[in-house]
Amino acid sequence: MDTIAVIGAGQMGAGIAQVAAVSGLRVLLADRDQALADKAKSGIGKRLARLVEKEKMGSDQADAALARIETLVDYAPMAEAQLIVEAATEREEIKRSIFEAAGKVLAEDAILASNTSSIPITRMAANVPDPTRFIGLHFFNPVPVMKLIEIIPGLATAPATVERMRAFAAHLGKEVVTSEDEPGFIVNRILMPMINEAVFALGNGTATMRDIDTACRLGLNHPMGPLELADFIGLDTCLEITRVLFHGTGDTKYRPAPLLVKYVEAGWLGKKSGKGFYDYSGEQPVPTR
Ligand code: CAA
Repeated sequence: MDTIAVIGAGQMGAGIAQVAAVSGLRVLLADRDQALADKAKSGIGKRLARLVEKEKMGSDQADAALARIETLVDYAPMAEAQLIVEAATEREEIKRSIFEAAGKVLAEDAILASNTSSIPITRMAANVPDPTRFIGLHFFNPVPVMKLIEIIPGLATAPATVERMRAFAAHLGKEVVTSEDEPGFIVNRILMPMINEAVFALGNGTATMRDIDTACRLGLNHPMGPLELADFIGLDTCLEITRVLFHGTGDTKYRPAPLLVKYVEAGWLGKKSGKGFYDYSGEQPVPTR
């Protein structure tokens, strides 16, 4: 593999582009707007510069990695990619339209992968040219730091596609786990109920926001407490995935906490909107309750 394309230049897409470029691959980074793709590339440049400052990477290596990233809006050049990774907004209709457009340029033997965190791969395979070469490839945020990739074959995914994605993950220096195509896969099936339960506990007045987070950081050795992590992921994303678990299984144990719904309805989406469970407008995050 020498060229990959990444569609969606948000937090996840930019992270995937960064690790792929650092690993020596040419990366075509696309978004619906050229300015968004360019902004993502300049963000990657800043992160690589920090790695150089910390002496974790040589400046030549950082420059070469950045030069391997090409930003674009038009999908046509993706015909040169052996892998196209979709990392767009977690909305099924958006992903479907991307698969249709990418499918038109996808090379004969290339793989189309989705970084979805919860939408069924088998269902989305209906919109791709060849379901045997379609797969879930779920990265974690921040992509350059998190070692894991979940691989999710759909019902029709060929074993050869799985093997090629294992090799790709190994090339990036990531560890792989494979999951059946079930709601939430492995990590989110376990993580989202924990976050949701933390929000129920907050809503019930079991403890303060800080104490819930401190309890999990110090009592479980988690790097972030569940409410802090929810803000980091985005409360809209957490709610969306919790709803996928709830509707996908029909099990009421996954019903979203009313307070989570309320925060999302208020537009308090976490770090990205400047306010979620914590308010990020000052020097230090301050609890909102
Ligand atoms: N991008 C790239 N690198 C980053 C980064 C970012 N956004 N944020 C932090 N880092 C790097 C730092 O540069 C630093 O690197 P070095 O050790 O090489 O210097 C390292 O991560 C540690 O960072 P900090 O010292 O600034 O901060 P920290 O020790 O508090 O760690 C953290 C920050 C890595 C985010 C840590 O708090 C953590 O691991 N949190 C949990 C993250 C997590 O659970 N992610 C999964 C979310 S679920 C998901 O992604 C899937 C889904 O479908 C929702």
